[in-house]
Amino acid sequence: MLTRVRKSWELPETRATDEHVYRNRRTLLKGMGAGSIMAAGGMLGARRALAAEVAGDLYPAERNDAYTVDRALTDPELVQTYNNFYEFGSHKQIAQAAQALVLQPWQVRIDGMVEQEMTLDAEELIRKMPLEERVYRHRCVEAWSITLPWTGFPLAALVAMARPSSGAKYLRMETFENAEVAPGQRQFWYPWPYVEGLTMAEATSELAFIGTGMYGKPMPRQNGAPLRLVVPWKYGFKSIKSLVRLTFTDERPVSFWEEIAGAEYGFWANVNPEVPHPRWSQATERLLGSDERVPTRIFNGYGEQVAHLYADLQGEKLYI
Ligand code: MTE
Repeated sequence: MLTRVRKSWELPETRATDEHVYRNRRTLLKGMGAGSIMAAGGMLGARRALAAEVAGDLYPAERNDAYTVDRALTDPELVQTYNNFYEFGSHKQIAQAAQALVLQPWQVRIDGMVEQEMTLDAEELIRKMPLEERVYRHRCVEAWSITLPWTGFPLAALVAMARPSSGAKYLRMETFENAEVAPGQRQFWYPWPYVEGLTMAEATSELAFIGTGMYGKPMPRQNGAPLRLVVPWKYGFKSIKSLVRLTFTDERPVSFWEEIAGAEYGFWANVNPEVPHPRWSQATERLLGSDERVPTRIFNGYGEQVAHLYADLQGEKLYI
């Protein structure tokens, strides 16, 4: 991983959409013999045979050009072999273990304060939704970042379908729980299942997205197939993977990491370079695949779209 590549964030916006940008980087990485990540990347051939194919005919979806960024795309092999998915282990090389995830059938429950509770198969849900592609930055709380084209649909479209009552204030989301498939869930000291939450204003804001794929293909299991949240203005742990339940509620959910260490990982978790994590600075971030650090931006660069959501919440710990 300690490989120097050119300063990709200096590339003009148009280049951020070009596949050859990450292809060049891949060639460079290979040429430099980039250690463990590339070794893990060697698994990709075998993994492709097991590619997640939920609604596979819908890919690639049309790109929505309103959502591109001024950074190069990250090499997909890095994005798909360096993961946080504690259900499969508390380290980054979980890609192979995650292939145990069975995606068909995959039931998603929508319940709580809605007109009518429902259970849908992920494939059925995905086919009902308006799929598109968006390029977003993703900033992990651990101070590394990636940039990639997600396929998916606005979370607002799912909320509209669910028809929550006016009393619903939060959307609580839950990952699958099955320790036979996900050995990390045998680590009983973690509060499984993984839970996350958003306010209704956040859930219906324009950037909140349900990812169903990446790089023009269905979502790899290790990245949270078949459905995951993508909220790019928040630290990555908010972007909960492999959803099985969405509950509309008037009670603020306590998220997985908040329950473990609330002083370090709060409910809001909006990206802010000026508010350090209690144990490290958040001022800069490392672009995955590079040893360069770049400045982190408030709301991860998405302030224009989301800052208004927090204007009346100054008493809250918005950046932890
Ligand atoms: N969702 C679940 N269910 N379990 C997890 O461990 N890790 C989070 C988030 N969603 C996590 C999760 C963290 S810390 C990050 S940074 C992102 O997923 C990583 O997503 P990626 O592996 O697709 O890059």
